[in-house]
Amino acid sequence: MSELSTAASVRFASHLLDARKVTFSRAVLPLTTDEHVVSVRRMVRERALAIKLSLVDQTKLVTAASELARNTIKYGGGGEVHIRELDDGLSRAVQLMFADDGPGIADVELALTDGYTTGGGLGLGLSGARRLVDEFDIDTRPGEGTVVSIVKWKR
Ligand SMILES: Nc1ncnc2c1ncn2[C@@H]1O[C@H](COP(=O)(O)OP(=O)(O)OP(=O)(O)O)[C@@H](O)[C@H]1O
Ligand SMILES: [Mg+2]
Repeated sequence: MSELSTAASVRFASHLLDARKVTFSRAVLPLTTDEHVVSVRRMVRERALAIKLSLVDQTKLVTAASELARNTIKYGGGGEVHIRELDDGLSRAVQLMFADDGPGIADVELALTDGYTTGGGLGLGLSGARRLVDEFDIDTRPGEGTVVSIVKWKR
């Protein structure tokens, strides 16, 4: 998977690269600044449109992407997002993987609790993002980093 990433965390989370599904395109965008969040929002909207997600689903995916991108920057110390299109033969999806080499999340269940924050936020980013997508996975290791993968299918 070395061509996918410089972030070490993507290597340990390589099982999130779902082999059942066909990759149609991939892109990797950096995530360190607010401008990067804007670029990610734009590209995610573009890919969602390309697979003809409904306007509501496009917005859900872009919203989830924004929250995860901000977490990557704020808590992960920066990282990158991998954007892929999936096809299982019946439908298409956009998959986003947010990867950082930051401190990791000690208690994932706690972090996914509505209102839990260590940074003075609302504590609704992770839990909200999970509700907005079809698939949601977190792979995190203390001291090594975090990868959050989300998938939104066309229905
Ligand atoms: N990539 C990450 N690396 C390390 N810790 C993280 C990461 N993403 C989230 N966390 C931890 O999970 C907590 C919950 O994240 P969540 O996005 O739900 O809330 P928040 O960012 O604190 O507030 P909000 O997103 O509502 O403004 C964070 O406060 C932080 O402790
Ligand atoms: Mg957040």
